[in-house]
Amino acid sequence: MCGIVGYTGYRDVVSVLLKGLTNLEYRGYDSAGMAIRDGEDIKIFKTLGKLINLKNELESHRSEINNPVMGIGHIRWATHGSPSLVNAHPHTCSCGKLVVVHNGIIENYKELREQLIKKGCKFRSQTDTETIAHLIADEYSLCKNLETAVRNSVKKLQGAYAVCVIHKDVPDVIVGARKHAPMLIGIGEGENFIASDTPAIIEYTKKTVYLEDNEIAVVTKDNVKVTDINGNIVKKKVEILPWEPAALSKLGYKHFMLKEIHEQPDVIRNVLNGKLYDIDEPVELKEVNIDKNILKNLNKIQIIACGTSLHAALAGKYLIEEFSGISTEVEASSEYIYRRTTTDSSTLVIGVSQSGETADTITAIKQAKEKNAHVLIITNRPDSNMARLADSLIHVNAGIEVSVAATKSYTAQLISFYLLAIHLAEIKGFKDSKYLKGLKHELIQLPIKIEGILSDTSGIQKCARKFSSYKNFIYIARGINLATAYEGALKLKEISYINATGYPAGELKHGPIAMLDETMPVLSILIPGGITYEKVLSNSEEAKARNAKLIALTSIDDKNLESLFDFILRIPPVSEILSPVIACVPLQLLAYYIAEFLGKDVDQPRNLAKSVTVE
Ligand code: M6R
Repeated sequence: MCGIVGYTGYRDVVSVLLKGLTNLEYRGYDSAGMAIRDGEDIKIFKTLGKLINLKNELESHRSEINNPVMGIGHIRWATHGSPSLVNAHPHTCSCGKLVVVHNGIIENYKELREQLIKKGCKFRSQTDTETIAHLIADEYSLCKNLETAVRNSVKKLQGAYAVCVIHKDVPDVIVGARKHAPMLIGIGEGENFIASDTPAIIEYTKKTVYLEDNEIAVVTKDNVKVTDINGNIVKKKVEILPWEPAALSKLGYKHFMLKEIHEQPDVIRNVLNGKLYDIDEPVELKEVNIDKNILKNLNKIQIIACGTSLHAALAGKYLIEEFSGISTEVEASSEYIYRRTTTDSSTLVIGVSQSGETADTITAIKQAKEKNAHVLIITNRPDSNMARLADSLIHVNAGIEVSVAATKSYTAQLISFYLLAIHLAEIKGFKDSKYLKGLKHELIQLPIKIEGILSDTSGIQKCARKFSSYKNFIYIARGINLATAYEGALKLKEISYINATGYPAGELKHGPIAMLDETMPVLSILIPGGITYEKVLSNSEEAKARNAKLIALTSIDDKNLESLFDFILRIPPVSEILSPVIACVPLQLLAYYIAEFLGKDVDQPRNLAKSVTVE
């Protein structure tokens, strides 16, 4: 949600900021803006819509920017105030000398705004961010020191913020501050960067300093000073980013989503690497720091997550209960927060999040920690806020995921749940070791099977073409593949805007069946040899009897299926327990190709943002 980048140094400031914003565009794309210090002046450029509009605007004003030395940029996903030019960042104080970009939400902005209006501040936008600009300018008028003005101001803010501030009278300095919103500094030689996320700086430096809540950074081209809220110097550790710049390139694919779908075999290998050495060896989860005796006697697990991560959690619940017998609840983070939970010190709470920055999940995790639960975080971002809250961590190792629709991170989360469930089974001695060996063997084979699917997607493309004009879809499954049905439907709706819903197949006849006719395709997940196969097949027949168009996702080559189903999406043979990892891939591709045929903006669907940092 929103992205920030700031730069001071010898490179072309406009290009560095544009590159940084391009790499952050997946975080928001309602409007974009930039403030450039050009000699004595600060010049501001803002445009509505996607970043390309800001690029064009800057191109047409390039000749007016003569001596740029530093600047701050922002890409917005609107929270307070509609996506309009006046609400686009950067925002300024009344006289325009102080300029701010901001991520997060200021909860007490209305009170502050009223106080500032009484002092004579002239507000132009509906944003909470503009309040920050006036507030800091007011403090600056008293203390004449930008760092102190920022410190005094942020003490008055309630809510979440990552802010970058520059001032016309304070040359070469960017002041940054954060609370409950990520912010980091990129360290260079004769140049420095400040950003809300690593992709903004990765092309220029891998040396990073992460700011913690209530810290303030003063960044010049040759120096970075970090202080706490009381002004004490904080010695920060310089960390080296694990990502390569190539992660931010489409590498010849038309969209990041397609590239990321194709990366899944290697992602699975990465997740298994270092955790599953040999089928005869136990799974090793070094960063799970729970005493083995505690794990052995654990009687409750709660998994909290949102969106796609919530679907991985559903599969995780199935696996943990199947392999360890430990009662496991799954709940959307946004629901967990507002009810009386039974979490206590004997509960293992698992937070699942690709970004590690999802506000609802962070709040839920904080609540679980207050109740003394052991918190295990499964995330793709070990550098995230959520990872910092973890007592134990499983890094899913999927690499940077740029497409707003999650694909490879889902697969990586699934594999992490298999490893965790096997780990619990091995500690508890709950499953027969021969069974676990067989499972590990099949787990290792999964990348090859997915490579098989990816090597020929013509059937999936044909199916996408045939069904792309339908307005509604139902996905049905039972057991562990209910998660697959939910996730397949979510993929379709988020990138094609087609109404798609996942249902437990057995629930169809309890209501949804009323909607069925020839305008409603029903996609059934049928895993031969599995305990749910026959039942899902009869539920599909019930749908056929109501004239629904039927699509099967299955590995079986059976003439009877061909007469029942209008289209069959084939997957390689796989055991039911491992089938979610295989079955999700054609469903990701089906959603992708339908959206592609419909000409949708696949990587940046409307109204969405990659990480949702507001509750
Ligand atoms: O970063 P997180 O996994 O916590 O994000 C949770 C959801 O916002 C995310 O999965 C969202 O549903 C994606 N758009 C799914 O494709």
